[in-house]
Amino acid sequence: MSTHDRKIISVIGSGLIGCSWTMVFLSGGYRVKIYDKQPGQAAKAVQNVRLQIEELQQNQMLRGNLNSVEQLALLSSHENLSEALEGAFFVQECVFEDLAVKQAVFHELEGHVGKDVILSSSTSCLLPSSIFSEVQSRMRCIVCHPVNPPYFVRLVELVPHPETLPVVMDSTFALMTQIGQAPVRLMKEIDGFALNRIQYAIIAESWRLVKDGVISVQDIDLVMSEGLGMRYAFNGPLETMHLNAPDGLEDYLRRYKEGMQRVLSSFGPVPEFSDKEAEVFIQDMCKHIPSSQLSVRREQRNNLVMGLAKLKKMTE
Ligand SMILES: NC(=O)c1ccc[n+]([C@@H]2O[C@H](COP(=O)([O-])OP(=O)(O)OC[C@H]3O[C@@H](n4cnc5c(N)ncnc54)[C@H](O)[C@@H]3O)[C@@H](O)[C@H]2O)c1
Repeated sequence: MSTHDRKIISVIGSGLIGCSWTMVFLSGGYRVKIYDKQPGQAAKAVQNVRLQIEELQQNQMLRGNLNSVEQLALLSSHENLSEALEGAFFVQECVFEDLAVKQAVFHELEGHVGKDVILSSSTSCLLPSSIFSEVQSRMRCIVCHPVNPPYFVRLVELVPHPETLPVVMDSTFALMTQIGQAPVRLMKEIDGFALNRIQYAIIAESWRLVKDGVISVQDIDLVMSEGLGMRYAFNGPLETMHLNAPDGLEDYLRRYKEGMQRVLSSFGPVPEFSDKEAEVFIQDMCKHIPSSQLSVRREQRNNLVMGLAKLKKMTE
């Protein structure tokens, strides 16, 4: 297939997530046109993506069936929005997490594309009904919420607007699967979607346990990294219940239901996360990982996530 026969995806906003989506779409063999409102930013993003893709190829971590040269031939940056959107069947918005900015972007996008083009937002925590409120044909709008870094953490939460057509959900699900992501469908919008609701529940109980003097900051993190996290990378909480009793989930509930309810009913209120409350957490965390080591630690984390992605691929 020649470069020009390939279908086009437009990426609007070329910061961290715009670059990440670009790399994922390129790995799926799509032509990607990047646009950014800030002059020169989209061209910079192309350079950034080029470096990352070349490095991935060197480390044999490049995704997809095309090599780095073939993938990079599919990429272009644009200073003009309508040129960036021309020919696209799917648009992924990646601008600042600001409701007014996103509403204005979608309102503008609609004027440049046909009614059958899917308009997708990367928002982390704004509701689809708010983001797409200025769009006239909202039935083709959807949220595709990635997890950072999307190249190695494949989950994408698909969250519909109340008017999103089932065919839009199905086509987006098919696209995400085809490019190697792991999409999940939310049947309806909810604040925090699924991932952040679970994440915040874990943060809240971790916070309460430290605040109540039950455990240290360092040890509560170990509860996750050396305990729950070891299996959660492969089996979710419900499958874990199924596997953790000899006769499966029904057996698990028979054995542990009362204990779960007793413990759950002892949970405290939502933490305030106030400055005064946070002081101890910040001090302990900085003693364990000083600010001077943050970038080293981040790089180490990214390499470990990359290794885990490799391991997961081997188990597929
Ligand atoms: N960073 C993460 O970990 C993460 C994870 C999941 C989802 N998200 C979501 O992805 C989106 C982008 O986040 P990010 O971290 O890439 O932000 P970022 O600040 O790195 O990039 C935003 C880019 O959007 C551009 N921009 C701003 N207004 C624009 C406009 N009107 N038109 C075109 N471009 C415009 C900016 O110039 C900038 O380059 C946000 O909604 C965020 O919540 C972020």
